[in-house]
Amino acid sequence: MKRKPFLAGNWKMNLDRKSGVELVRALRDGVAGVGDRDVAVFPPFVYLDEIVRAAAGSNVRVGAQNLCDEKNGAFTGEVSAEMLRDVGVTHVLVGHSERRQLYGEGDELCNRKVVRGLAGGLHVILCVGETLEERDSNRTEHVIGRQLTKGLAGIDAGSLERITIAYEPVWAIGTGRNATTAQAGEAHRYLRGVLSGLYDERAADSIRIQYGGSVKPDNVAALMAVPDVDGALVGGASLKADSFLAIVRYK
Ligand code: PGA
Repeated sequence: MKRKPFLAGNWKMNLDRKSGVELVRALRDGVAGVGDRDVAVFPPFVYLDEIVRAAAGSNVRVGAQNLCDEKNGAFTGEVSAEMLRDVGVTHVLVGHSERRQLYGEGDELCNRKVVRGLAGGLHVILCVGETLEERDSNRTEHVIGRQLTKGLAGIDAGSLERITIAYEPVWAIGTGRNATTAQAGEAHRYLRGVLSGLYDERAADSIRIQYGGSVKPDNVAALMAVPDVDGALVGGASLKADSFLAIVRYK
């Protein structure tokens, strides 16, 4: 099955209001004619409202980098799926490795966030990935299989059309050292096999699996040519219009 490529830019804690709006304006012009791939940006929370308005009417979707696992109430500092929807956000990242590693988010919390994101009407990108130590000790499949299985616990097949998986080896994020096409291909194939076991082959075949970790204009085409790679989750290279547009328009 041919899956529509999905290119996403995770701004992390970068840019400011002015440069974020300028970037999204440049992207909306730059992707105006691009209908055969999905494009989304993930700005910091405080800029979401304004970025959604700047992107309105274009092919650029806007997502949040995180959400609360609760719907509302006494959760100081948190933001719910409903609040994100309220300002026009359509997508959300769950379980990015920086959330897992720096903020201690485990599989159960990630699962609750997936559930909440879907219940709140969002499209969820669930991120999985192994550390260098885990890869070196041959635990890659064990780790990403566990993150995927636990992350999707209780999610029915009917919700899968609002889920994307991002495979992001931790050792490749922000290091300039991307996974080889063989490494990405192996991991993506493995994840699709796990999905097939959790659901069925048809469901596994239709879900998109993005690769993330030092995706740049000069390596995106080779990664996207790998059969099970259906998109890219881009950090550093999504902060400038020319490099992100070059990635979105890969040939
Ligand atoms: P990078 O980040 O492209 O800067 O490696 C990817 C990510 O963390 O999503």
